Amino acid sequence: MTQHVFFNEVVTRDGFQIEPDFVPTDDKIALVDALSECGYAKIEVTAFVSPKAIPMLRDAEEVMGRIRRVPGVEYTVLVPNLRGAERALESKADELNLVMSVSQTHNLANLRMTREKSFAALSQVIRAVDGRTPVNVSLSTSFGCPMEGDVPQDEVLAWAARFAGLGVRGLTICDTTGMAHPAQVARMAQALQERFADLQLTLHFHNTRGMGLANILAGVQAGIVRFDGSLGGLGGCPYAPGASGNVCSEDAVHMLDAMGCDTGMDLPRLLTLARALPGIVGHEVPGQVAKAGRSGDLHPVPDAVTQLLATSGSRNNDP
Ligand code: COA
Ligand code: ZN
Repeated sequence: MTQHVFFNEVVTRDGFQIEPDFVPTDDKIALVDALSECGYAKIEVTAFVSPKAIPMLRDAEEVMGRIRRVPGVEYTVLVPNLRGAERALESKADELNLVMSVSQTHNLANLRMTREKSFAALSQVIRAVDGRTPVNVSLSTSFGCPMEGDVPQDEVLAWAARFAGLGVRGLTICDTTGMAHPAQVARMAQALQERFADLQLTLHFHNTRGMGLANILAGVQAGIVRFDGSLGGLGGCPYAPGASGNVCSEDAVHMLDAMGCDTGMDLPRLLTLARALPGIVGHEVPGQVAKAGRSGDLHPVPDAVTQLLATSGSRNNDP
């Protein structure tokens, strides 16, 4: 498997939006600056949402204003409405990531409006942006809703088609609460590529039920090359009951690197950042490779075994 896979980092948006304690603005900026050196295609820096709804990201302007922009990395931001889009354009975001849910119930919980109202508001944003900044649309709860249950694939494709018709650059199909399974992902990936071959297609998984890496693998095998991940596996939507962390970026990169995919990522650097993350958020994080080390990081041979090896001559000597 030699295909190139592009990674988008969402820890400072999806990750920090649900943290119990406010992550200091300086720490957010330092983390984005460090992530910029790791090989990401995109970093979702923050969200221009209501500070009452998501107080953790109330410093969005300051963060966007003070990060160091590294050429080759796109700095995107989440936008729920026209007010958010104005703030995002003002902050010179490289991309606007508009959001709505395919599930009516989750859209009402998260954005406090019906899907049709969201679509009308986001259409207005796309018209106002008028091609000056690329627009991506994230469709939440595309693989299942924690309140409604199954979300039909055809409904996801229908909303995707409406946005494609408005000329967006990309679509992110989101598994907001980790309900997707690999067979479902494979079907979705195939259908998306058949219909929207000329759009940037990204998959966004949460590891709520331990299926995150399996779902990335299913997506890669079905030809998708763009994935969101969150450092340490932080993340979750505060308006989705039972939400928990995104698929962990460094664990996903480690898996794909081991399989021979070209992720373009600097995994050792990423692991250093992941190991510093508990110090920033004040608690342990779910990611596994930062704790275990890479599969190629070997442990010393115990002395007793070294002696046995010396007497038997060689590791492969098995008399
Ligand atoms: N940025 C800053 N403030 C905003 C805003 C934005 N994008 N959109 C609305 N507001 C403010 C309004 O100015 C108003 O402020 P006021 O009470 O001081 O007058 C207040 O928020 C309510 O505005 P209203 O238009 O009635 O929106 P709402 O209360 O129905 O909220 C959303 C709608 C979408 C703006 C809000 O629910 C939201 O930001 N949700 C965040 C969703 C999210 O990020 N979820 C997790 C990621 S998917
Ligand atoms: Zn998410």
